[in-house]
Amino acid sequence: MTKEAAEARVNELTRLLNHHNHLYYVQARTQISDYEFDMLLEELIGLEKHFPDLVKDDSPSQRVGGEITKNFRTIAHRYSMLSLSNSYSESEIVDFHNRIQKSLNEAVEYVCELKYDGVAISLRYESGKLVQALTRGDGTQGDDVTANVKTIRSIPLSLKGNFPESFEIRGEIFYPHASFEKLNIERENEGQQTFANPRNAAAGTLKLQDSAEVARRRLDCWLYYMMGENLPFATHYESLQAARSWGFKISNNMAVCSNAEEIFEYINDWKTGRYQLPFDIDGIVIKVNNFRQQQDLGFTAKSPRWAIAYKYKAEEAKTRLISVAFQVGRTGAVTPVANLEPVLLAGTTVKRASLHNADIIQQLDLYEGDTVVVEKGGEIIPKITSVILEERLPEALPVSFIENCPECGTALVRTEGESAWYCPNSSSCPPQIKGKLEHFISRKAMNIDSLGEGKIEMLYDNGLIHSIADLYDLNQTQLFGLKKAFEGEDGKVRKMSFREKTTNNILTSIEASKTVPYPRLLFALGIRFVGETVAKKLAEAFPSIDLLMMADKEALIAVDEIGDRIAESVLSFFAEPESHKLIEKLKNHGLQLEVIKSETQLSNALEGKSFVVSGVFSQFSRDEIKEIIEQHGGKNIGSISSKTSYVLAGENMGPAKLEKATKLGVPIISETEFIQMISI
Ligand code: IVH
Repeated sequence: MTKEAAEARVNELTRLLNHHNHLYYVQARTQISDYEFDMLLEELIGLEKHFPDLVKDDSPSQRVGGEITKNFRTIAHRYSMLSLSNSYSESEIVDFHNRIQKSLNEAVEYVCELKYDGVAISLRYESGKLVQALTRGDGTQGDDVTANVKTIRSIPLSLKGNFPESFEIRGEIFYPHASFEKLNIERENEGQQTFANPRNAAAGTLKLQDSAEVARRRLDCWLYYMMGENLPFATHYESLQAARSWGFKISNNMAVCSNAEEIFEYINDWKTGRYQLPFDIDGIVIKVNNFRQQQDLGFTAKSPRWAIAYKYKAEEAKTRLISVAFQVGRTGAVTPVANLEPVLLAGTTVKRASLHNADIIQQLDLYEGDTVVVEKGGEIIPKITSVILEERLPEALPVSFIENCPECGTALVRTEGESAWYCPNSSSCPPQIKGKLEHFISRKAMNIDSLGEGKIEMLYDNGLIHSIADLYDLNQTQLFGLKKAFEGEDGKVRKMSFREKTTNNILTSIEASKTVPYPRLLFALGIRFVGETVAKKLAEAFPSIDLLMMADKEALIAVDEIGDRIAESVLSFFAEPESHKLIEKLKNHGLQLEVIKSETQLSNALEGKSFVVSGVFSQFSRDEIKEIIEQHGGKNIGSISSKTSYVLAGENMGPAKLEKATKLGVPIISETEFIQMISI
């Protein structure tokens, strides 16, 4: 392809990708499938690789991140980032309104908006391109987090329409509930501290050094205030409507109000309405709409006189503590959970509250049967905020943290400086084993998708698997006809039994997992604090498990991003004789315990065969499939001809390819058939 042709295609792809990105992340609409989007992005990245000088700062490829920022630069704000004064009652709103009326002595209009509970950000656009993103910092200077902010899909990298040459727009970066819950589940699975609420998670994510990790975490951003010199707008409302047309994510939940009653109505609507939102708000913001009036009112030292925040009080309810249950997680961490007498709180019935750890029980000074106050604030799970001492029963005893594991009886241990208690019996404590197996088979680990939580439980309860390695000893006879009765959430008992198709699927995907590359296997082992990224770093530094097992603390902490905590966790994992036995078994079963370069030949099962790979696969990514083809002596080719041996088709294969393959009589094979070809 000539450079001119490449440039034209890069521009076209940029336009298309930006269009679909905006539709999806700002307008929540779709016109193409995820697969089609990925194909366009892949094509763009391919062209940019070939012609690096065609890469622009606002290229959609920048969204995937990759830039590492060791220290964020501190930069002075062009306009200081003030905060708002808070109010908690209607009378304070009336005072605010009266103050403004008196000062302006003319009719005034307000805009009521949601007060998003996240991290404030200031975005600078020059000639329609995002050039800088600064955090609030101390209000006069903030941190330059541009590389991380560029990965947020709802923030436009370039604008459309008739935008001012230079301006700033401010908003709030936040975690939608769905991504927050996903993040915390992942962190819990990796033995990492979970975030207390979406706001903390957003703040932590924005300051990550690795922008590729930020890209994976799916932050979002609402914009709520525009500033600049000689902006062509008379009102705040108008400026935001224009900003929406340039591509910004602007809320539809704004209301223009002309008196205090209308403001109260808005406050009341959102008092309960906020629990239906897919993100947290902690109040509403009331702003004078007219820019000239805003200017006339000016600022105090800390905040604008033309705006005020109305903060919702966290909803509280009184109830009784029935008992404290102790749950054991995959990593052996023991979490106390309070069972409560059911109570209605913010529209839902609360029966349980998280207690997090032993320190919290102590801080609350919790006694059995205590009357407690539960609060639903920004967090998703309610928490106990206090105990009503006057209502404590005279004979009540303090809630004590258990000393032995409730599942296996082993004495619990606690590392100095950590708040969690652990059951150290990682090799035979049932929830730890089941949890490890579930983590091992999960999509991001070995991706043995024919097994799930229920089936793992079934295999474990039937005594067929006790450790990860046992999965690779399973056979048809053991699995076929295996039965288990389940009690569903509705109390009904259902039966599950393995039929031939299920059995075959399970065995095929276990077999396929033997080709999962070493870094993912290392992650799948479930070593505490070794998440996906850490596993990749470790595999780069120690390209085989034998080298990793030989590494001492010094060698481990010499690796980028590996600190004391991770190093010690790796050392203690390999200090266990059980771990050595496990690795030995996995080696014997032929799993990938070292980095395999694509030139390394695993077999010649595919020798002389050429493949066109198309579509989306369930066990592997397209790149992984291509690598496997080469590892087994096959060849990847770009387009179908009569000489092509096979078209390897995943989901959503394009109709044109299908037609061509059929016309030329090229066999079309599925992922399962392909796995069978290489399972020799
Ligand atoms: S306007 C001059 N509008 O609340 C102040 N702020 O304490 C301009 N916030 O730092 C801020 N939602 O991070 C404004 N709709 C909204 C907001 C909002 C959330 C945050 C913002 C600010 C803090 C004020």
